[in-house]
Amino acid sequence: MADPRPYDVVIIGSGAAGLTAALNLAPRFRVAVLAKGDIAAGSTAWAQGGIAAVLEPGDTYDSHIEDTMVAGAGLNHRETVEFVVEHASAAIDRLADLGVPFNPGETVSERWHLTREGGHSHRRIVHVDDATGWAVQQALQTAALAHPNITLVPNMVAVDLITSAHVEGQRFAARAAHGVYAFDTASRQVLRFTAKAVVLATGGASRVYMYSTNPDGSTGDGIAMAWRAGCRVSNMEFNQFHPTCLYHPTVKNFLITEAARGEGGWLQLPSGERFMHRYDERLELAPRDVVARAIDAEMKRLGLSHVLLDIAHLGADFVRQHFPTIHARLLELGIDCTIEPIPVVPAAHYSCGGVMVDLNGRTDLAGLWAAGEVTQSGLHGANRLASNSILECLVFGQAVADDIARAWDDAPIPAIRPWDESRVTDSDEEIVVAHNWDELRRFMWDYVGIVRTDKRLERAAHRVKLLRKEVADYYGNFRVTPDLIELRNLVMVADLIVRSARLRKESRGLHYTTDYPALAAQAKDTVLDPVTGRS
Ligand code: FAD
Ligand code: SIN
Repeated sequence: MADPRPYDVVIIGSGAAGLTAALNLAPRFRVAVLAKGDIAAGSTAWAQGGIAAVLEPGDTYDSHIEDTMVAGAGLNHRETVEFVVEHASAAIDRLADLGVPFNPGETVSERWHLTREGGHSHRRIVHVDDATGWAVQQALQTAALAHPNITLVPNMVAVDLITSAHVEGQRFAARAAHGVYAFDTASRQVLRFTAKAVVLATGGASRVYMYSTNPDGSTGDGIAMAWRAGCRVSNMEFNQFHPTCLYHPTVKNFLITEAARGEGGWLQLPSGERFMHRYDERLELAPRDVVARAIDAEMKRLGLSHVLLDIAHLGADFVRQHFPTIHARLLELGIDCTIEPIPVVPAAHYSCGGVMVDLNGRTDLAGLWAAGEVTQSGLHGANRLASNSILECLVFGQAVADDIARAWDDAPIPAIRPWDESRVTDSDEEIVVAHNWDELRRFMWDYVGIVRTDKRLERAAHRVKLLRKEVADYYGNFRVTPDLIELRNLVMVADLIVRSARLRKESRGLHYTTDYPALAAQAKDTVLDPVTGRS
């Protein structure tokens, strides 16, 4: 397959962030949207609970801002929080205009039904039953498919950003992004997608852990690509563990939405005893970091494999009406949640850290913007508040598009060198990739999980170093494959997480270490810089 002709904008990622940017750019620009598998295979389509926004007269921006900052343990950038909260209701209106069938209100004065989740002091989550993400993804995707200026390119795995270092004949050009090298899984060739602007919307990195609520593709590719291209990353130590992932022998990543607790669900020990009152006066509606740590502590204290989430007491009709997707999926697995509790465990769910961006989604590299879970925009601080993520994708997806339009100039795209395969061969031992992958996820789970110590982090650092060397040798000698591309990125992201965690000498939000249990007086981001090597 030949390289495609240059686009105006290449967006890597087809979830809420990427598609929102595409739809806002398309009236003026030719846009390509790349996805490494199916267009709908990112986390967006898996979202259950909904999208947070101030939509009712009793609620206020100040309250949503305050809840976001409390959950984020004061590390949030207030300017970003205000920006996102104040643009939320317009973003929801645009989704409704695209046809997202949000559940209607139960009285004439309520436009939509609003549910509640941990850390929110008001009901403010719009939703489509318990499968909000699927509805959002479908609406955005349908609009993108219908737009003549948008080309959706599935099964195209971005390998690395094209930067000034890849410009033909120019060794010392100013640092900028000019596109992306991407592996076409059909032709098994690496193609050049060149463009005047590049948007990273590749989602998070929670698959760096053994147990995760995320789809397979959450391997931190965008974070690793941006880092290799010279962008700073920040707050990588803040990995959110969702308290209630289904505990099941074969189904490992099925989430039980936080709205289940929001609507009154209880956490229990196998004896039926509730335990959240021993940890936080907000009980099951404390922020996620608090609930996940409480479950972890109870599991360790009693040697349990899981705890229980009871929603049966809410009544069978209520459960079937509010949680139809969860109810049906659990029935397929032999669990009737209208009459019995659901076995649950915490699992890696969300990457609060990522590529540093400003309020326009600009990164450190000229020509490169980023939006969504791949970024650290300042919104989430040390712990993301429930249902603020899709919101961030929508608000920043639009902000990026607006800024690209403002910054547009007519300079030509330089000639780019083709992908060089002259020094690599086909791998004779692909199983090595799978082994390294398993090893990485296991030690990240064991040593860089919900509760950390200096010793555990040191062990993890040692193992990451060895794996980085092995993967670099492998990458240098063999042709790329999707698995190798992901492993290379996961190892890089693991390294950034461990380095960041070792730098934080306090417990704040999602980063909890028994060696430094107190909160430092000043809230400070952890910033890693690949250019200066400084942190
Ligand atoms: P994603 O939707 O993850 O999309 C990433 C895209 O990047 C995909 O298209 C993928 O193919 C592409 N990509 C990645 N790497 C490459 C590569 N190398 N080359 C090409 N393409 C690439 N948030 C909420 O606000 N409310 C919720 O109710 C909620 N529920 C959730 C439930 C679950 C089970 C999960 C997993 C997450 C949930 N979240 C929720 C979080 C939220 O869904 C995500 O943070 C958000 O959807 C991320 O959107 P995104 O556009 O940044 O990335
Ligand atoms: C959930 O439905 O519990 C997930 C919400 C979120 O991750 O924001």
